[in-house]
Amino acid sequence: SIPVTDAIFGVKARTRAQPRAHTIVKAMNKYGVKYPATVRAAHRYKLSGPEILCEIKEKVQVTTLTPDMEPFSGFPWGSQLPPRQITSDVGPFKTCAVVSSAGSLKNSGLGKEIDSHDAVIRFNAAPTAGFETDVGSKTTVRLINSQLMASEDHHFLSSSLYSAGILVSWDPSPYSSDLWEWFNKTDYPIFKQYQRYRRLHPQQPFYIVHPRMEWQLWQRIQDNMGEAIQKNPPSSGLLGTVLMMSLCEVVHVYEFLPSRRKTELCHYYQRFSDAACTLGAYHPLLYEKNLVKRMNQGSDRDIYTLGRVTLPGFATFNC
Ligand code: C5P
Repeated sequence: SIPVTDAIFGVKARTRAQPRAHTIVKAMNKYGVKYPATVRAAHRYKLSGPEILCEIKEKVQVTTLTPDMEPFSGFPWGSQLPPRQITSDVGPFKTCAVVSSAGSLKNSGLGKEIDSHDAVIRFNAAPTAGFETDVGSKTTVRLINSQLMASEDHHFLSSSLYSAGILVSWDPSPYSSDLWEWFNKTDYPIFKQYQRYRRLHPQQPFYIVHPRMEWQLWQRIQDNMGEAIQKNPPSSGLLGTVLMMSLCEVVHVYEFLPSRRKTELCHYYQRFSDAACTLGAYHPLLYEKNLVKRMNQGSDRDIYTLGRVTLPGFATFNC
């Protein structure tokens, strides 16, 4: 067996290597998270992979906003929301690829393998043009955060990067996940940008994640760790992975657990290096990776050589 990922994600290794910024972020509680971390965690954080999979299947509701939900039912633009759940409209697919944006995808040569899946999810501003050999060219779903939607730099409304495939967006809500409260206190102006985008691209499917999903998933991470995690929502990468587990029979996640190509390069498409992109600062990313490592049904060699994790779709197992 190959010890690389255990060395990176083992609890002891993490404590030793934990940067100071990480500790500061962990003390913050912007979203008003109220959850008894260590008390509950102590007897729980040794759950097996299949047990964790069942917990996620049973406790995380993969829901998107629909026009009948308050407060959106009371707004004229509420009718721009897709009338049905993404899980009713999209899939089911046999095999799916989740393409993290990690720098370690560079020179991976994984493009063909990624494109051989029935559906591929990508994140935020991750391009395929010019990077096909390493990341493929198929984009079925693109999961974007509200920060990108609002940022001037990304030209969200006009860039052709976002016009392929199904868009799904998310924004961190207050921990209550109350839609009214969130509507009045989004992190970034997700609803304003959503309305603008829909007017410009009325034919493209575009969903918004119910923020309850973020915090339900966050609780699954916290419950399965032996210490308090960042009180911020999980990263797009993990949200997208769970979304695909609800649409696909088998999910392959690429370079979320770094392979032997592990690098401080943040994204495969940018010349910017920061280890926090892989290890986390704002997001509880290291804990997310620990959880995914435990759920992995593929081999350690697949992680080491391909950066590939294999997860079962929710419809394929009983709890
Ligand atoms: O940076 P961005 O959020 O757009 O990247 C998409 C996802 O890929 C992240 O949310 C994270 O889950 C994953 N990622 C990673 N390591 C990196 C960069 C991204 O695990 N170096």
